[in-house]
Amino acid sequence: MSSKLIAPSVLAADFGNLQRDLEMINKSEADWFHIDIMDGVFVPNISYGMPILKAITKHAKKTIDVHLMIVDPDRYIKEFAELGSDILTVHYEACTHLHRTIQAIKAEGMKAGVALNPHTNVDLLKDTIKDIDLVLIMSVNPGFGGQSFIENTYNKVKQLKTIIENAGAKTLIEVDGGVTDKNAAKLTKAGADVLVAGSYVFKASNQIETIKGLKEIANS
Ligand code: DX5
Ligand code: ZN
Repeated sequence: MSSKLIAPSVLAADFGNLQRDLEMINKSEADWFHIDIMDGVFVPNISYGMPILKAITKHAKKTIDVHLMIVDPDRYIKEFAELGSDILTVHYEACTHLHRTIQAIKAEGMKAGVALNPHTNVDLLKDTIKDIDLVLIMSVNPGFGGQSFIENTYNKVKQLKTIIENAGAKTLIEVDGGVTDKNAAKLTKAGADVLVAGSYVFKASNQIETIKGLKEIANS
């Protein structure tokens, strides 16, 4: 039975045919919908916000994994819960009081995730790891789909896995950015539990088969 999860990134979908692309994910072997919210301040790009998330949650029948690339995310925690987010991930670099933010996310009934930029050391999460449901390791600099995978990610995943095991925590490790069939197996062997894939899935001519193949590789 497969245990490694695939989360297609809706950022790479065709927004003129959003419902069609969401139904494709529903039908596929994908496990989660990965939703990237960018504010043009924390990252140099603006993606989409509440109205689009509302449209997505209306059709999406799997776990809604929201990745916030915004400053001061505490302002919107309640609203993201009301819109149907199952997992809410904030960036370590965007939170002054990370522990408080994690508690606030959980108080709204969501799983709490923390994302790390490529330059942020995993050791910084040692003191909070038991409170965190998911750590998202960015394998590109956040802000855009279609970038090249940063090779140091494997080391970070291994280091984080050790921290999680030493703490006796159940935290999941998610990797986001430049994931393809070329790095998926090495990532899951290093300790990754969830792989986000945007361009690799949506640029494929057969997206359902591509997701199936990626899941097989991730679980090989
Ligand atoms: C980048 C986003 C990613 C992005 C991944 O800032 O967090 O989720 O959509 O896209 P690919 O898989 O194309 O790198
Ligand atoms: Zn993302």
